[in-house]
Amino acid sequence: MLIHIRINGKKRNIEVNPLKSLREVLVDEGHFCVRDSDNNEGFAGSDTVLLDGEPVFSNLVLAGQVDGGEIITGDGLADGQHLSAVQQGMIDAGIVQSAYNAPAAALLLTWLLEKNPNPSKEEIKDVLTGIYIRDAGYEHYYLAVKLAREIMEKGRHTSEIAPDFRKNLKFVGKPVSKIDGPELVAGRKAFVEDRVEKNSCVMVMLGSPYAMAFVNSIDVSEAEKVDGVVKIITAFNCPDVTYMQAGQGSPEPSPHDRRMFNFKVRHVGDRVAAIVAEDYESAIKARDLIKVDYEELKPVFTVEEAMAENAPLVHDSFVEYRCGAPENLEEYNKGVDPREGKVVYQFPLHGDVRHNVASAAHGQIGDIEKGFEESDVVIERTYRTNQIQCTPLEPHVCYATVDAGRLVIYASTQVPYHVRRIVSWVCQIPENKIHVIKQRVGGGYGSKQDILVEDVTGYAAWITGRPVYYMNTRKQEFIANSTRHPMRLTVKMGANKDGKINAIYMDVRANTGPYGNHCLTVPMNACSKTLPLVKVDNMKFDIYTYYTNISPTGAYQGYGAPKGAYALNMCMCEMAKELGVDYFKLVEKNSVEKGYMLEILKGLGEGREGNVVPVGSCGLKSSLKEGAKMIDWGKKEISDNPEWKIGKGFAIIQQGSGLPGLDHSTALIKMATDGTIILNSGGADLGTGLDTISAKMASEVLKVPMYNVTVVSGDTDSSAFDTGAYASSGTFFSGNASLIASNNLKEKILIEAALQMDEDKDDLDVGYWSKVVSNKTGKELSFSELIHTALSGTGRGQLVAEGSFVTNASSIPYGAHFAQVAVNVVTGEVKVQKFYAIQDAGTPINPELALCQMYAAALKAIGHTLYEGMILDAKGVCLNPTLTDYGSPMITEMPEDFKAKLIDVNDDYGPFGAKSISEIATNGAAPAIGSAIADACGIWMRSWPFTREKILKELGKI
Ligand code: FES
Repeated sequence: MLIHIRINGKKRNIEVNPLKSLREVLVDEGHFCVRDSDNNEGFAGSDTVLLDGEPVFSNLVLAGQVDGGEIITGDGLADGQHLSAVQQGMIDAGIVQSAYNAPAAALLLTWLLEKNPNPSKEEIKDVLTGIYIRDAGYEHYYLAVKLAREIMEKGRHTSEIAPDFRKNLKFVGKPVSKIDGPELVAGRKAFVEDRVEKNSCVMVMLGSPYAMAFVNSIDVSEAEKVDGVVKIITAFNCPDVTYMQAGQGSPEPSPHDRRMFNFKVRHVGDRVAAIVAEDYESAIKARDLIKVDYEELKPVFTVEEAMAENAPLVHDSFVEYRCGAPENLEEYNKGVDPREGKVVYQFPLHGDVRHNVASAAHGQIGDIEKGFEESDVVIERTYRTNQIQCTPLEPHVCYATVDAGRLVIYASTQVPYHVRRIVSWVCQIPENKIHVIKQRVGGGYGSKQDILVEDVTGYAAWITGRPVYYMNTRKQEFIANSTRHPMRLTVKMGANKDGKINAIYMDVRANTGPYGNHCLTVPMNACSKTLPLVKVDNMKFDIYTYYTNISPTGAYQGYGAPKGAYALNMCMCEMAKELGVDYFKLVEKNSVEKGYMLEILKGLGEGREGNVVPVGSCGLKSSLKEGAKMIDWGKKEISDNPEWKIGKGFAIIQQGSGLPGLDHSTALIKMATDGTIILNSGGADLGTGLDTISAKMASEVLKVPMYNVTVVSGDTDSSAFDTGAYASSGTFFSGNASLIASNNLKEKILIEAALQMDEDKDDLDVGYWSKVVSNKTGKELSFSELIHTALSGTGRGQLVAEGSFVTNASSIPYGAHFAQVAVNVVTGEVKVQKFYAIQDAGTPINPELALCQMYAAALKAIGHTLYEGMILDAKGVCLNPTLTDYGSPMITEMPEDFKAKLIDVNDDYGPFGAKSISEIATNGAAPAIGSAIADACGIWMRSWPFTREKILKELGKI
């Protein structure tokens, strides 16, 4: 059918299949900013366009319906390089982060302002009800509209965006437009899917229908006959290499316990075959013709089932150790069914696969039993957390090609260098033959630390020699991706009548699901990011992680800390109740402050002894004080309606700033021939503003405008090694590497300038803008003149420097989150009336982005606390693998009064005093809301999520 439409004012006559979606037509026409986050579910709004002046989800409109229509897309708002007021307002407000649907949001706000130049908060909220974001929270959308209106009226905005930190600095601590903001908000090519060439193959995956089964045979003969099928990869023809998908530093503290395709499938949706074909339809047709002979096995789903005597074993495998093998290993491995495959430990993680134990860890300080004996009150409580999903707007995606004999991988990843290493290992290709190019990341939150799709996509391209494109469906994101480890945490606590805690014991049982990705690190974090919050002399922990047949788990923002923080804070609150002391006073009395020696860290290294260090810069007490003031702690609020009971609660939280002694970051910096700067950072910006941080380091040190600093990052050819963006390492590690590189380049600039200016180097300094100035003679030399002479053929060559950062220092961000809730004791409904996230991030380098990340993480954690959760049936089938049924928070679920506040603390080790920011913000909501519910109506919510049903059960109503 021929349709006549206008797209962004331009007439187009297009021959279409009338049953195609409007989105597909628009993408074919080059408007790739009209994206799909949910396979036509109509939830996320990434596909929003205006059709005849009204917003529509273009996935839900058929091409045949739009003949004669006028369509506006998000990439039609900018005028060349000139952004619209709304686009600029969104960037400057800090809301453009991973930005997968930022063009759609910009379009909606533009539409609103055209109709109503002075919209109310309610009207802004109303127009954004169809936009789902997980990365920046929604709060700063209101600010974005305010800034946009100011730009429209006065040509520039004048309102305060975020507090200004470090008056003596020009860029650091100031809200300055994020450097990748324009390309993202304007919908230019940025993501993996935008790189796919027309003639590329696509790949689809056949997943297991069973939670656990042996794959006895696979018949692909009929499937291979389908026209367009290029290759089918299964357990019978994939590389016989055992590895794991956790993108961690090597040697990994996770067992290598899988092949690319296994002879035993271990969860519903586990990979059985990959079908590479010329087009999607042929791939699906072939997939449906594959015949698999499964031998179904009885699965286990919970920690309790996995622990049971004679429980079915998820990995009854052949066990190997790269070092530290136990003496009885030969005996241990007798009689293993070869279909089970191998579990290879890089070093002992104290696992026991014959009892479903993937890893274990133990540690203590002081004398725990004596601590309990000397306490006036001892309580023991058990808390449970469920399985939740990262839900990045951009599903896991990869595009791989073979170019000049090398494998080129376009990846949406947090760990480009781990992708290169793991793909090299799996495909048995040397690393110099692999080029990983990180694209903009449409949301990661930890799930893109794991190498879940790059292994098989890279291999498919390598063996076929064809470009191969793969993207998870939203359902696959839920069932075959990585999720938070469900946990059972028992806390035993002893305290004196005055509220002094003498002893804490934590027993952590984690459920790692079918594979052991992060099986040590995540539950370790439940202890290592919580026990060091309190000054307690006697502490002990035991951690066991179990294999089961739930959907896979892995890294998720906060790792195990949100769960540990929930258990520890709730138990402190329960203890305060038992003792009859004020919860706030008890926490204040026991929480750490600067200089307190963290002996507990000794037992909390990952598979090795941890560093004992004193608490460094610490905003914990200030956060507590500020939060208590904001929420008016101690003042009881009473509702006019007796059905609603109001209560207040809070939690103390911490995280880390990368992994001291393990992480390593590198940056390379050079001067272009006009005196501008190119900075190659190994760091992986996943939308959080890391590239902007790197640019600020160079601008601040070299006194160069930020526009004159270009950051190229996450490209394994042009940059040098960086461990990656996880464990809150980006600002602290990659930022420090950029700072060191900038300082090193400054040194080289001054040496070269001293020679060219015939002055003593010690009399020279860099000056605003982009020049060297002599403090002695007043002479000046611009960077462009300097580099021109250096590269003139008789000069001393390129001005280039490296920065490499490693440390043993721990810079810990602290915070306190406060909540006021109203609980309806008839319906079980919980309303979060107030939520205040108070945190110390050291010097927040990008304060506006930091605040948005705090709003986002806190809201995410509120969703986890109150309603999010994957539901599996008795066979392990996920019953809610859609965003609608899963139910992440939208703008309408925001707390009524929501505030994020940064406490000003200067750190000794972070770049310009910075610490990490966003992971920590996922740690506070559950205990803050849980303790507020207890204050409101006297019940203790000991299991996530706090659904109405559970509330009513605790209230004795059902
Ligand atoms: S239908 Fe709107 S993002 Fe998929």
